[in-house]
Amino acid sequence: MSGRRRRVAVLISGGGSNMMALAQAARAADYPAEIALVLSNVPEAGGLAKARAEGLATATIDHRAYGPDREAFEREIDARLRIDQIELVALAGFMRIMTPWFVTRWTGRMINIHPSLLPAYKGTHTHARALADKATEHGCTVHFVVPELDSGPVIAQARVPVLADDTPETLAARVLAEEHRLYPAALRSVAAGNITLVEGNVLGRH
Ligand code: GRF
Repeated sequence: MSGRRRRVAVLISGGGSNMMALAQAARAADYPAEIALVLSNVPEAGGLAKARAEGLATATIDHRAYGPDREAFEREIDARLRIDQIELVALAGFMRIMTPWFVTRWTGRMINIHPSLLPAYKGTHTHARALADKATEHGCTVHFVVPELDSGPVIAQARVPVLADDTPETLAARVLAEEHRLYPAALRSVAAGNITLVEGNVLGRH
């Protein structure tokens, strides 16, 4: 693998299954990224214990300590990312909406995974909404983060069938399995520089 591994921070709020998929992929000798930090806004997030068990560096910055001042919260995150010389941010089940202040500082260097085939079903409860619409297919999207929620340029998508007897839970499980495959592959492409964001457009091949 030419060049060194890009230093990635994974931001989580919950169980961190996507973070674990990235961490496991990054064990490969030819993976162009290392998970240098796992950061959560939720002190008791289950993903933090999993990250520590993996031997990964972890940190907690509790958004509740900053009250309504979202930017103050984000300045703390940004300061820690700079101290840790982070080059790429991967949001993975991170449930805080970042303000334009933070997003613009990390334009082209921050990605997210969303459990729908964007632009369909931005926001939350994507599986229940797809079922309510009687969608025949669903899936997940990795995209660059822009200030508008779940609206950034798409890096990669994976599709799953919706089955007649699906519940939100069974559909979510089928999508999550695809997330755990798609996210490590998408991060590999971005970290290797094979996919970049130039003037709002995704260049390169996933
Ligand atoms: C997943 O559905 C993911 O798409 C969304 O958050 C959910 C939980 O992710 N971003 P994780 O298990 O915490 O990685």
